[in-house]
Amino acid sequence: MPSNPEYDSLEDVLKKVSLAKYIEHNWQPLKKIGSEYKILCPFHDDKNPSLSVNDEKGLYYCYSCKAGGNLITFIKEFKNYSSQEAIKEIENFFNIKISITNYNIPDDSNKKNKLFSVNTLIAELYNKFLLTNKSRAKAVSYLKSRGFDDEDIKENMIGFAPDSWNFLSAFVKNKTEKLDILDELGLVKKKENSNNFFDFFRNRIIFPIKNRQGTIVGFAGRSIDNSNPKYLNSKESIIFSKRKVLFGIDKFNKLKGKKPKFVLLVEGYTDVLMLNKIGFYNTVASMGTSLTLEHSNEIKKFSDKIIINFDSDKAGVDAAFKSIEPLFENNFDVYKLDLPNGQDPCEYIQKNGKDAFLNLLNASVSIIDSFIDYSKQQYLDKEKSLNSIISDFTTKISLVRDVFNRDLMINKFITAFSLSKNELENKIKIQENPPTSRRFDEEKNINDPIDIALKILLETVELRSKYFLECVKDNSDERYEKIIRLLEDNINMDPSNLITISNSEESNIISNLLFAKTAIDSDPIKKEKTLQDCIKKIKIESLKEKKRRINMKLNHQSEIASDEEHKLLMLLQNIIEEEKNLKN
Ligand code: CTP
Ligand code: MN
Repeated sequence: MPSNPEYDSLEDVLKKVSLAKYIEHNWQPLKKIGSEYKILCPFHDDKNPSLSVNDEKGLYYCYSCKAGGNLITFIKEFKNYSSQEAIKEIENFFNIKISITNYNIPDDSNKKNKLFSVNTLIAELYNKFLLTNKSRAKAVSYLKSRGFDDEDIKENMIGFAPDSWNFLSAFVKNKTEKLDILDELGLVKKKENSNNFFDFFRNRIIFPIKNRQGTIVGFAGRSIDNSNPKYLNSKESIIFSKRKVLFGIDKFNKLKGKKPKFVLLVEGYTDVLMLNKIGFYNTVASMGTSLTLEHSNEIKKFSDKIIINFDSDKAGVDAAFKSIEPLFENNFDVYKLDLPNGQDPCEYIQKNGKDAFLNLLNASVSIIDSFIDYSKQQYLDKEKSLNSIISDFTTKISLVRDVFNRDLMINKFITAFSLSKNELENKIKIQENPPTSRRFDEEKNINDPIDIALKILLETVELRSKYFLECVKDNSDERYEKIIRLLEDNINMDPSNLITISNSEESNIISNLLFAKTAIDSDPIKKEKTLQDCIKKIKIESLKEKKRRINMKLNHQSEIASDEEHKLLMLLQNIIEEEKNLKN
């Protein structure tokens, strides 16, 4: 019996095996469109195929949720496998042997677990402080005013960060490696130009923020001394992204797998906690950011209906209408629950009780009805022109994929504004079919010189040593900081291997560039020329920025000494010279 082919480099493996074949077998049949396959993306709730698979390159990329990578990252994400397990899977599926001892693939699960456990430790610390310390009075009285007692504090592990600059550093006895972890979690901050750390949360009530599994990923701190901002969040980290996490999502576990009839979307931490208290475990809040498509994807896993119950102030109303788009993109039935006189759900329930709230809940109206009413009032009060109202309305309903529903909404709109369908159509030319293209908006060409330059450098290892430094030395585009560092450290590595060794954020960015449809000539000489042109443009752009900065400084003349001014003018002169040379 012939033995299985054996490989000692992942690079060779990835060149040899077919990503398309794996996906086809484990996920869905592939449909070829042009040179690529297009299928439903397994990484978010996808209705129109938005995952592209390029089998020749061995890469996939989703234009909607931006997941991207190669076979190894696919298996890791799809099956929730470690790198080692993914390699095993490839061996089994393709009947090959991979004899590599040093995989050189980051597995950040250990790191994440470490961060999770430190978060838990600190949450417990703050919680104990709130329950027992004598300085707890003010925090307790705020919570009481919102309707929460010690039981609620225990149940939700609410805490209190004392009014101290070094509570946490003293707690970890100033051990550097522990402070570094707290820093990464945003619980302490480094003093500028020093090695000292200070507490991020001071004199604040602490709400732990949990993911779906109930693990603490971040914190919110509410000030109790009127200091601003009223709420602070611990910073984003590899375990905490505000775009993704929803406060309250962990409580869905209490529904014991029962699908809720709807999900309640509220604004605040206290709102979620109060609704939990009266038995609504199907409540989430997006914590001060507007609702994102990622949030919407997450909620969609639990229900198709959502009731928005934001504060009944102007900010709350605006925010509610703003969240229509990510929700309609996921085909939600969206309702809005209005509370009287500027109240929020927490306050309302505290004052009026559960039954009164249930009555209002039953009276929720469709969000589009509410939006039309609101727009009509704005129009009557001359706050907004009809044209801009129409354009807002059509943006929203163009996302509704059910033609029947969409027509219903249009009819309501034209009735409310005494328009005929013709008049409306003349103004906007609503397409007969709902546009499915929106999800692929980003599938456009890339135009930025830095995008194109990096794409060429990623694809063409031979050009890197000559142009890499020149290309990135003036880069100020934050999106690319990480992959520039990655390229710098692996200047001869082919793109697929780069993806293999990168974390998911980097891998998504690289795949996006590799997938971009910009036509770059495959002829090596023309390609090099394109790269040179890009570099020139990058330089001109960076000179412009420098000029702008100098001019801004010069405009504040009264604040600068004359020798400083002289220096700046000289610099400016040099820049203008440089610019001239470049343009010639
Ligand atoms: N928020 C925030 N940052 C602020 C203000 C508000 O992130 N500076 C977010 C918080 O998630 C907050 C929500 O917006 O929970 C609603 O804000 P608000 O109604 O002002 O606060 P409440 O949650 O009602 O709580 P409080 O009793 O503290 O006013
Ligand atoms: Mn509120």
